[in-house]
Amino acid sequence: MGFILASVGSAVGIGNIWRFPYLVGTNDGGAFLLPYMIILATFGLTLMVLEFAVGRYYQTSIIGCLAKIRRQFRWVGAFTVVVTFVVTSYYVVILGWILSFVFIMAIDPGIDFDSFSNSYYPVVAFFSVIAINFVIIRKGVSGGIEKINKVGVILLIGILVPLTIYAVLLPGSGDGIEFYLSTDLGRVMDPSIWSAAFGQAFFSLSVGFGTLVAYGSYLRNKSSLIRSSSVIVAFDTVIAFVAGLMIFSFLFSFGMEPDQGASLVFKVMPAIFSQIEFGVVMAVLFFVLLLMAGLTSSVSLFQVPIAAVEDATGMGRNRAVLIITLLVAAVGLFSALSYSPLGLSIGETPVFDFMDSVFGGYGISISAMMFVVIVSWFMDKKKLIEHIQFGSGLRIPQFTLYFARFVLPVAIAVTIVSSILNL
Ligand code: PHE
Repeated sequence: MGFILASVGSAVGIGNIWRFPYLVGTNDGGAFLLPYMIILATFGLTLMVLEFAVGRYYQTSIIGCLAKIRRQFRWVGAFTVVVTFVVTSYYVVILGWILSFVFIMAIDPGIDFDSFSNSYYPVVAFFSVIAINFVIIRKGVSGGIEKINKVGVILLIGILVPLTIYAVLLPGSGDGIEFYLSTDLGRVMDPSIWSAAFGQAFFSLSVGFGTLVAYGSYLRNKSSLIRSSSVIVAFDTVIAFVAGLMIFSFLFSFGMEPDQGASLVFKVMPAIFSQIEFGVVMAVLFFVLLLMAGLTSSVSLFQVPIAAVEDATGMGRNRAVLIITLLVAAVGLFSALSYSPLGLSIGETPVFDFMDSVFGGYGISISAMMFVVIVSWFMDKKKLIEHIQFGSGLRIPQFTLYFARFVLPVAIAVTIVSSILNL
């Protein structure tokens, strides 16, 4: 139970409430939702089980596990760690926005996202969030935070469900629900939608980051990985689905545009809260809960590069924590400055958006793909299957191995390549 809750704490984060709706909005609504759901239930679930199983089997971190399979594969582990590090660097930028909105909503709800982001406040908030993470990790109170988070997730659902019911009942919400749920079959064949859906599924489930391998390595019992993973995937999916239903009902009934990108939630929710009774209280509560859900995720993201530096250099934990924190601050600063008056960008794309699509989307998918190739081709087949089944009382059909060996990597590779080539 503790294991499931810790994994839910890592999975349920701002990916569900910030990233998912923004991708639905920019990828034609239902045309994104359908591939996303399919991927979660098949590829996402399989990868989650595999990550847990590998971690539990080798009892070590991602680089260590891959190195045990073949020494050279430690470089693949290093790739995963780099991707996770970059994701951490801009994840804290969003946490900074959320922290700021707690105060904006409480003090001056009139300030909108554009005027907020076109200032240096987001940079101040960015450093504050890094400091909070540093204190949590340094004090080793992640366990305590995780306990708070269990209550946090329940409270988050507690506020999400009534808001969603309210949103669905608003006049005009029907168009939003239609946008969200109806699938344009022509668009569904677009590989860029699939590659975004892969990236988001992995991002949201925390798959492909090395985090779940670490969680698996703490397990020594014979709890069923298949059952636990199904519960975690279901939980994560339902929360994202409900958040989407809420956002798109609100959005359309207030006549706003769905394809606003990364700022979507920060534009829609304050606009809504300003119109409803007790809106200020709800708004503050909403952003505080989102901050808590995000902090447990960011703390678990930080652990991956910290553990890698400790293992690779043999340096003490405190030094590794300090070094990674400073590096995250240095690299993340570029993302934090992308909507500021400096407007840092790469070509036409703000650095932040670039990082999120290249690392959060493609990077994580590639990392997950290499992991599944290594595990399904190079680990002992019998041992792997036995270990996955261990404790579940289930027999996994042989074809799942072939699914992992061929279908999974090929599908991910094809969608990424064709989306990059824009076919
Ligand atoms: N799954 C988290 C979210 O949805 C992000 C995350 C990924 C957290 C990997 C930890 C590890 O926000």
